[in-house]
Amino acid sequence: MRRMSAFSRDDLLQRDREDPLAFTRDWFQIPDGVVYLDGNSLGALSQHVRARLEEVITAQWGQSLVRAWNAHDWIDLPARVGAKIAPLIGARANEVTVGDSTSVNLFKLASGALALRPGRSVILTEAGNFPTDLYVLQGVAEASGGRVRVQALPRHDLIGALNDEAALLVLTHAHYKSAALWPMAEATQAAHAVGALTLWDLSHSAGAVTVDLNAAQADLAVGCGYKYLNGGPGAPSYVFVAARHQERLGQPIWGWMGHAAPFDFTDAYAPAPDVRRQLAGTPPILSLSALDAALDLFADLDMSAVAAKGQDLVDLFISLVEARCAGLDLHLMTPRDRALRGSHVSFAHPQGHAVMQALIANGVIGDFRAPDIVRFGLTPLYLRHVDVWDAVETLRHVLTGRLFEAPRFQARQAVT
Ligand SMILES: Cc1ncc(COP(=O)(O)O)c(C=O)c1O
Repeated sequence: MRRMSAFSRDDLLQRDREDPLAFTRDWFQIPDGVVYLDGNSLGALSQHVRARLEEVITAQWGQSLVRAWNAHDWIDLPARVGAKIAPLIGARANEVTVGDSTSVNLFKLASGALALRPGRSVILTEAGNFPTDLYVLQGVAEASGGRVRVQALPRHDLIGALNDEAALLVLTHAHYKSAALWPMAEATQAAHAVGALTLWDLSHSAGAVTVDLNAAQADLAVGCGYKYLNGGPGAPSYVFVAARHQERLGQPIWGWMGHAAPFDFTDAYAPAPDVRRQLAGTPPILSLSALDAALDLFADLDMSAVAAKGQDLVDLFISLVEARCAGLDLHLMTPRDRALRGSHVSFAHPQGHAVMQALIANGVIGDFRAPDIVRFGLTPLYLRHVDVWDAVETLRHVLTGRLFEAPRFQARQAVT
């Protein structure tokens, strides 16, 4: 017998009418006929960002030209954007700056952290962490000329492996596949107990779940600007350095924007005394401006209410899939406990890539993570409860009708 869900599409329409956060959807441009479940990969375009880019291009760049560095204070944009990210991650305004990619920032912070722990030879991380985290750490170890090695262990072995060889523990707060959250305070405490530092990748948590770096006594963090923060494709990444480390933490890319006085044009490098030393080259003003405008949307929102809506949507998605897609080869990879996960949900399916291609062709945009994960971002700011219903009905249609078997869905896309 077909399992029905405990509520109907109309019930969910009613829930949307009662949703105190329903108004934020109007800020965004979601194309008609699309259910967008990939805001954890590329956040949607808001009217606000579109208007700001228009203004920066035509009025600031177009009219002020190079004068805009002073006239519009472009030079301090990394700090201003950092200050807007700070409350979303439990940091103080002067602990965050913005520039470069998450990959590059991981390299800078990990290299700097190793220099603070000179006698130690291990960087600990999780096996199956996001590839760029693993690759960058391997590169950092390579650059150490054999002094340091990377130990990537399964989650349940990791904390027990911390000892006095460990210089640095590098973890992604919400796992990019499963969404499983690391307990930040406990893991940080365990690292500190053996004298190691912590470096958190917040790419899948900032803007989706509450994050409190300072309450956890975290040392360092990075994260993407283009996911839940909606800064646009390739938006720059943020860097957090706890105030207590800023004076001593160096970084390997000694660019002029990290210099104490870039416009003195002196020959010798002298790092800025604060988090600015994490910068390297000229700030990318267009993409920083887009991120700046996108962050304004969070200014008056209660992040715990935003996170709670995301979790409601994840709960709804899981319960509808279990009611409507039972026996169709989907295996939940995400924790059921809402306190233990980010705002996306993943299922394994043996034909995952083709299933996602068929879903996208039918207006439901999620993504695929090899070898077999279909992943759905439940972005609280622009998703309605009814979108979740429609997405799961489409998923059911794709699976029961075996639409994913069509030859056009078999070829692997360059970006999945
Ligand atoms: C956890 C995590 N870290 C880093 C990145 C990407 O870093 P970058 O912006 O340097 O490509 C991603 C991208 O999806 C990610 O999921």
